[in-house]
Amino acid sequence: MDSKTFHFESQNGTGIITLSRPEVLNALNIQFFKDLNKLLDELEKDPVILIITGTGKGFAAGADIKEMADMSPDEALKLSVGGQKTFQRLEDYPFPVIAAVNGYALGGGCELCMACDIRLASKEAKFGQPEVKLGLIPGYGATHKLAKHVGLGNALYMLTTAVNIGAEEALQMGLVQEICEPEALLERAKEVAGLMGKAGPDSLMAVKSVCMASSDLPYDEGLKLESENFMRMFEGQGKEGMKAFVEKRKPEW
Ligand code: CAA
Repeated sequence: MDSKTFHFESQNGTGIITLSRPEVLNALNIQFFKDLNKLLDELEKDPVILIITGTGKGFAAGADIKEMADMSPDEALKLSVGGQKTFQRLEDYPFPVIAAVNGYALGGGCELCMACDIRLASKEAKFGQPEVKLGLIPGYGATHKLAKHVGLGNALYMLTTAVNIGAEEALQMGLVQEICEPEALLERAKEVAGLMGKAGPDSLMAVKSVCMASSDLPYDEGLKLESENFMRMFEGQGKEGMKAFVEKRKPEW
């Protein structure tokens, strides 16, 4: 499926979303959110592991400033709530979503990559939340989520100074999981998706949803949710996975 703002293709069971407005460093406009919601409507019926990346030197350089410049406060509220809801759909998406961050991931672009489950970065990637330089604050979740990735001190450092950090620094802070040569980034993302693709589909979905839910639950409730889902695996694909191990063969999911 092609849209006005990204190209989508499916390769070996992995869906690749490539943002395709390089002339504005893939800035996220209202159309992007419409397109992504439409794609997710389809994918949620028959989910595949997803990779999100960008064309050119931007992953996404934030919300589209030219589009926002004339908005009223009410329109801004609608934009923020709508963007947050769309990014929540990526977090709630049943299968993992990998950000392959090829370049600038600023403002809403950094928030987009935080809505993904893991982040692989090109050596050339840059991350930042420059909203205060525009007299704004983030609108797609960074004030809540950035600290979860990098700790409160680093989050406030990025949010208040508006500095861009490079891939190495992002790795040290825990914002990204791995750095690649620019030309190897997409292949590596596909490789990681391939590793995930070998998992039992039910356990892949369960491990993501339990982990995501647990991060907002008290300790006891998180462990209870884990045990319930651990048990559930014994009613299904867990049996086949363990049997295959014992019989020294590949599992058939
Ligand atoms: N919105 C709209 N257009 C953008 C854009 C954005 N976020 N970022 C870049 N562009 C456009 C530029 O205006 C330029 O277009 P023109 O050729 O028509 O002038 C084109 O993309 C290329 O950009 P530059 O010439 O600026 O490229 P550069 O290499 O000199 O600089 C950059 C790159 C440092 C990323 C710079 O473009 C920049 O600072 N962009 C804005 C980043 C930003 O502030 N993002 C936060 C947006 S607010 C937000 O995201 C709020 C939220 O949480 C919802």
